[in-house]
Amino acid sequence: MKIKTISAIIAIIILPNIHTMAQNTLADATKGKFLFGVAVNMQQVNGVNPKESELIAKEFNAIVAENCMKPQLIHPEENRYEWADADKVVAFGEKNKQVVTGHCLIWHSQIAKWFFVDDSGKDVTPEVLKERMRQHIYTIVGRYKGRIKGWDVVNEAFEDNGTYRNSKFYRILGKDFIKYAFQFAHEADPDAELYYNDYNVETPAKCEAIAELVKELKAAGVRIDAVGSQAHMQMDSPTLDATETSFKKLKAAGVKILITEWDISILPNPYSGANISVNFKYSPEMDPYRVAVPDSVQQKWNKRVLDMFGLFLKYSDVVDRVTVWGLNDAVSWLNNFPIRGRKDYPVLFDRNNQPKSVVDEMIKMAKKI
Ligand code: XIL
Repeated sequence: MKIKTISAIIAIIILPNIHTMAQNTLADATKGKFLFGVAVNMQQVNGVNPKESELIAKEFNAIVAENCMKPQLIHPEENRYEWADADKVVAFGEKNKQVVTGHCLIWHSQIAKWFFVDDSGKDVTPEVLKERMRQHIYTIVGRYKGRIKGWDVVNEAFEDNGTYRNSKFYRILGKDFIKYAFQFAHEADPDAELYYNDYNVETPAKCEAIAELVKELKAAGVRIDAVGSQAHMQMDSPTLDATETSFKKLKAAGVKILITEWDISILPNPYSGANISVNFKYSPEMDPYRVAVPDSVQQKWNKRVLDMFGLFLKYSDVVDRVTVWGLNDAVSWLNNFPIRGRKDYPVLFDRNNQPKSVVDEMIKMAKKI
């Protein structure tokens, strides 16, 4: 057979599988640098769309539940815990040999009202709230002891200007609620890693406040392993510089960094943050890519992904995990945030579960470094 014919046959066999060949996945390419994870929803865990479940198993080596471990879902009433979904997520990760992390123990959003009030509807005393936190954390962390590598212990305790968020936890217990949460989590599973997680960590005042918190916790002998930067990004913010500055600051504070909820919205946005209670009215101008994303815009998005990914690689001595918030564009929460009913394209796989072209470039980049 002529060499040309042989190469043509080889090309026919190999080309369509080039991405899946040689375990050419992001998780493989980033091995030894950081974990590469994804947030999973229950349809995926339950195998409603097997293609999605397979993709999660194949492409990622870490998972986190997108919703089912949040206080409201896992602990809807004082003496009622809903374990079914969380149990399934943990088992799914174990079956696929993935690292499972927990999101999140203490958060002012997606938490049931009972947590803060007594039978007459009045705010509980600091002692009662502290005891409820203890029970909540002991019960959840205790159940998955040894199976969950680390926990987002406290989520979003700061405002962007670096002041403490005026949440019920803060109003009732003061800033010590954070310390208590970390202490309880450590008591419940001394081997679990413990994380503080927030959005807009790149904002200087907020980053400063988080770095201070890390130092205070460490000075008090309280375990904290990493700061989770949600990294819900947009086309122009945060800048690469601001992101790098935040990495330097956190590194200097003596913690690891996790990119916990990475996505980059391609849409125009009236708000750059991830406070889930923010909501703006829909207008067609704010939803310009219903049919397709113009090439120039797609190129800009690709560059942004590569710039940020390059930075994660550059700091892989401190960046322990990069987790994408959603498997594909169709399931991304950004289709409904901060405006409901739009069509966004913020993650690495498209609506047909195909890797975007940028994925191969990321793989090449990771392998080179
Ligand atoms: C989001 C989920 O993706 C949505 O499905 C849900 O409706 C709201 O919460 N910061 C966080 C995540 O820490 O838990 C949020 O997840 C996104 C912002």
